[in-house]
Amino acid sequence: MTDNKERVLIIDDEIAPRESLRMVLKDRYNVSTATGAREGFNIMTQNPADLVVLDIMMPEINGIEAMKEIKQRHPDTEVILLTAFASIESARSAIRYGAFDYLTKPFDKDDVITVVERGLEKRRANINLKVEKDKLWSRTRYLEEQINSARQNLVMSYEGTVKALILTIDAKDHYTFNHSEHVARLSVEIAKVLNLPGKVKDRLEQAALMHDIGKIGVDEIILRKNGRLTDDEFTEIKKHPVIGATIVQQVPFLEDAIPVILHHHETYHGRGYPIGLKGEEIPLTARIVMVADAIDAMMRARPYRGALPMEKVFSELRENAGTQFDPQIVELILKGRISLE
Ligand SMILES: [Fe+2]
Repeated sequence: MTDNKERVLIIDDEIAPRESLRMVLKDRYNVSTATGAREGFNIMTQNPADLVVLDIMMPEINGIEAMKEIKQRHPDTEVILLTAFASIESARSAIRYGAFDYLTKPFDKDDVITVVERGLEKRRANINLKVEKDKLWSRTRYLEEQINSARQNLVMSYEGTVKALILTIDAKDHYTFNHSEHVARLSVEIAKVLNLPGKVKDRLEQAALMHDIGKIGVDEIILRKNGRLTDDEFTEIKKHPVIGATIVQQVPFLEDAIPVILHHHETYHGRGYPIGLKGEEIPLTARIVMVADAIDAMMRARPYRGALPMEKVFSELRENAGTQFDPQIVELILKGRISLE
């Protein structure tokens, strides 16, 4: 029998209440009956009812146990218990186990209809709620995907912007081809021997990549000049940390790079630029990039000298530890003999 009526199952071992309930409900619902819990379970397995009216006092499996079983297998099915006056207490406790309501024998026809209809209403509301919840979940998942892909696009365009800026600097200053990338790689190697956390290392790498970004604002003729710089030219070059920090300040997601960009020419003894910060006043990331920058410069051939051999690089670091470089960083580099390639 297939109709759109909701299904009600009546389980009672006594024929009189079972049949009178069926008569009351049969015109409104698709009603089936069972004479005991086991028969009821079979019907539920084949064709689950939306609501079960269940007698508490039954042989073999009583109504409370049967209800627990039904609720476990069919959580959406509502259960109404039937009880004699004497056992109203147990019906009340059954409600605590998940029954929707109870009816006392002998029952009034209108009460039966009211209670059953309210039980089914509750079920409909629960199912609607589930549907709404599922919709909300899939909407949330969809939005999450949108946000993730937007974030990915943002990161990609951010990385693209940074890369373009770095290429611009390296192209302007032809002696420093790949300079920024090498300094970034060395900085990460130093961060490793210093045991800095992964997040700090990632930020340091980005910052080191951009450390010379301010050279965009320095005259190309000065940047490309072979040989010694005049005092005026050196004054011009010395502006690049401030120019760089000013550029990066405009971009919120690059703000972590500011300390490195601004202070990577500060020296440990306080005679660097632009501020002349001393020792640990200089941010650690800037002290790292200062060393990495110097190592890169020494490893590179210049028009007036060849690349320094590694032993010479290490001895220069040792000699200038405490003056130009942070002595602790130098010590760790010399101990760890980091990969400088
Ligand atoms: Fe620089």
